[in-house]
Amino acid sequence: MSILQINASIRGADSASSALASEIVARLHDANPTCAIQLLDVGASPLPLLDNGFLGAHFAPVGQRSSAQQALVDRTDQAIAQVQAADFVVIGVPMYNFAVPAQLKGWFDAVARAGVTFQYTENGPQGLLTGKKVYLALARGGIYAANEDPQLPWLMRMLAFIGLTDVTAVRAEGLAMGQAVSIAAMQSAREQISALQL
Ligand SMILES: Cc1cc2nc3c(=O)[nH]c(=O)nc-3n(C[C@H](O)[C@H](O)[C@H](O)COP(=O)(O)O)c2cc1C
Repeated sequence: MSILQINASIRGADSASSALASEIVARLHDANPTCAIQLLDVGASPLPLLDNGFLGAHFAPVGQRSSAQQALVDRTDQAIAQVQAADFVVIGVPMYNFAVPAQLKGWFDAVARAGVTFQYTENGPQGLLTGKKVYLALARGGIYAANEDPQLPWLMRMLAFIGLTDVTAVRAEGLAMGQAVSIAAMQSAREQISALQL
């Protein structure tokens, strides 16, 4: 069994989402003590940007890639192998400008690979990363009603596209709304983590 923790915050040790993701991982590990833990900090070490060079590297035939192209593909191969190997995926997700961090989008850009993590069938797209549980630690400065969340619907859709459909979200909202609201938000998120049915 293994747990993959993905931290997407750019704020290092000050990150609320990474702290909450670590607490979810600690709970999962307590429940599954033999579980290995892998940490991927895309906030600190982003994956290569999806640009023309990225596409060129991936579409170049194996054996005809330059060493830089092969190094780029090795990184996305490694990101895919990490998530394929995980039983649990825990993602710390800050909200930046109403969206996921560019670094988390970059992780999806790296792991969404046709024929490997998704495929198209006569019934439409089919995700191939099946049988995993995903936990999201969402950290936001503001507070969003469920039907007005600017970030989570895209995230759920993207996860489902690659087969990650068993998703539980923990929220810390109002972190920029003054100290009292922020403290209460973290407390509430920690209660949500304690109450998780693992
Ligand atoms: C560049 C930047 C943009 C932000 N944009 C938003 C936003 O659009 N909506 C919001 O509710 N909070 C926003 N915030 C507040 C963050 O969501 C909040 O600080 C949260 O704690 C970030 O997660 P982290 O602590 O894990 O980095 C923003 C913060 C930063 C630094």
